Amino acid sequence: MNDFAERYGPWALIAGASEGTGASFARQLAEQGFNLILVARREAPLEKLASALRDAHPIQCITASIDLSGDQAVETMRKVAAGREVGLLILNAGADPNSSMFLENNVANWEELVMRNVLTMMRACHRFAQPMRKRGHGGIMIVGSAACYAGAPGIAVYGATKAFDLVFSEALWAELKPQGVDVLSYVIGSTDTPAHRQLMEQRGMRLPADMADADDVARLGLEHLSKGPVKNFGLADDEAGHAGLSAAERRERTLAFAKQSIAYDAKA
Ligand SMILES: NC(=O)c1ccc[n+]([C@@H]2O[C@H](COP(=O)([O-])OP(=O)(O)OC[C@H]3O[C@@H](n4cnc5c(N)ncnc54)[C@H](OP(=O)(O)O)[C@@H]3O)[C@@H](O)[C@H]2O)c1
Repeated sequence: MNDFAERYGPWALIAGASEGTGASFARQLAEQGFNLILVARREAPLEKLASALRDAHPIQCITASIDLSGDQAVETMRKVAAGREVGLLILNAGADPNSSMFLENNVANWEELVMRNVLTMMRACHRFAQPMRKRGHGGIMIVGSAACYAGAPGIAVYGATKAFDLVFSEALWAELKPQGVDVLSYVIGSTDTPAHRQLMEQRGMRLPADMADADDVARLGLEHLSKGPVKNFGLADDEAGHAGLSAAERRERTLAFAKQSIAYDAKA
């Protein structure tokens, strides 16, 4: 085992593991000798990935079909993980499948998004960070989005959940770092994943030419796990990036997003 695996192993639980960045995390952790608990809703792609990883590496890999928007999601994760030392928790699932303005969708769909990205995320951290703290080591990565930095029409609830995740991760990083547990809010941008492709298709938008590769995104996230509380993919740590907190800057940024959104509406 290498230092990374000693610090964050022997088991990693990845929520949203069957494809895209989640599957990339799984493959890269398997290469490093981690045992894996892979969670998503669809059992078939999960099991296909798990079987490939078990064939390629001397690791244990189990799967659990869990809807992270369900009220019992973390309780089920706890049962699945029972007796296994989970030293790394990656909360990857989080994209917005709704593709609509706020009032043009049933509120139940927005509640599902909040449930998965906020309540399940928070409950999973509460459940899995406790044994990490007791052991004095471990890591938690919450995959975020640049949507966390500004309100934008069309992704109001999505952006708000990602803002919650960002602020929550920062605070948890400060609370747990002295106790040996690393927390990272990993803020990523447009990345080539099946969910993103599907969303762009639904919106009638062309795929950006500069989408990041899911394997590159996963690699950089794992490299920065101990350098929290935030890593913005594609930006150096000291770059201003999406910052800018004055009321005027926030207004300008939201209006700039709105212009893009009107363009998006016209195409949709
Ligand atoms: N791709 C991008 O361009 C982009 C940009 C910015 C931020 N991000 C962030 O990056 C992360 C990964 O995004 P992604 O594009 O790969 O899409 P995603 O839908 O967040 O992740 C896909 C994975 O999550 C699982 N999943 C989705 N909803 C689930 C649920 N309710 N319960 C259990 N599992 C669920 C999917 O499997 P099942 O469908 O089988 O459940 C799949 O394994 C997200 O947090 C997203 O917000 C992505």
